[in-house]
Amino acid sequence: TPKGTCLESVKIAIDTGYRHIDGAFVYYNEHEVGQAIREKITEGKIKREDIFYCGKLWNTCHPPELVRPTLEKTLKILQLDYVDLYIIELPMAFKPGDAIYPKDENGKFIYHETDLCATWEAMEACKDAGLAKSIGVSNFNRRQLEMILNKPGLKHKPVSNQVECHPYFTQPKLLEFCRKHDIVIVGYSPLGTSRDETWVNVSSPPLLKDPVLNAIGKKYNKTAAQVALRFSIQRGVVVIPKSFNPQRIRENFQIFDFSLTEEEMKEIEALNKNVRYVELLM
Ligand code: A2P
Repeated sequence: TPKGTCLESVKIAIDTGYRHIDGAFVYYNEHEVGQAIREKITEGKIKREDIFYCGKLWNTCHPPELVRPTLEKTLKILQLDYVDLYIIELPMAFKPGDAIYPKDENGKFIYHETDLCATWEAMEACKDAGLAKSIGVSNFNRRQLEMILNKPGLKHKPVSNQVECHPYFTQPKLLEFCRKHDIVIVGYSPLGTSRDETWVNVSSPPLLKDPVLNAIGKKYNKTAAQVALRFSIQRGVVVIPKSFNPQRIRENFQIFDFSLTEEEMKEIEALNKNVRYVELLM
């Protein structure tokens, strides 16, 4: 992120009405997010409790003794006393250390043996200490969720699971499982993400060019992006669209003044290709 872009974008987002901010230590812009939130509090635009900030525990910090110090580091960067939600970013652990993507001499990731249940217990302790109001996970499949849910002595269950979710990747089975267990699905890449070949599977066609989304949008005088976001929220999936463009930040918020019919919802659901843009090959 170019310096200052995130600061400005978060301030515009808050002025527009956004309250849920999805961040992470590995985005390297948490200092700007924190600054934007604090500036808006000082301005009197919002109170701290109006904001819902989600932070994430990175792969190199899974050993239980690292969990609380890692969250404390995030809080120090944000200059906030707590996060509203703290989640395990990915279910796989990397070797702890300064390298965010530790690799061996052959360029292979260096993984680390940790027990996800032990990591979860350390997450529970962060909630009990008041450093995180809620705790959850991300990129967990059903088997990994079950492992936590069935953990003997479970104190707090994950409140949410953040996964890729949009009209081309609708996650019907995971959504049903999570609904049954009262776990909110937070959908990342709700607009089909960017076309950055270094981490995006660009062989899947761009979501926002989809004829069905565009045709439905035309009917309501909305864009394909607005239809995609509306589709997700209407099926109970939380969306976290990313934009650094003021006009698109505002556009992505104008989704509460129309609704899709049952037939349109079905039509969009049928677009599911079961193909991810973010393959997470690690
Ligand atoms: P930009 O930051 O220039 O607006 P996702 O949220 O699925 O990860 O998608 C993010 C990508 O979609 C970014 O490249 C972002 O670019 C772009 N984007 C965000 N909002 C819109 C919109 N309303 N219409 C078209 N592209 C958008």
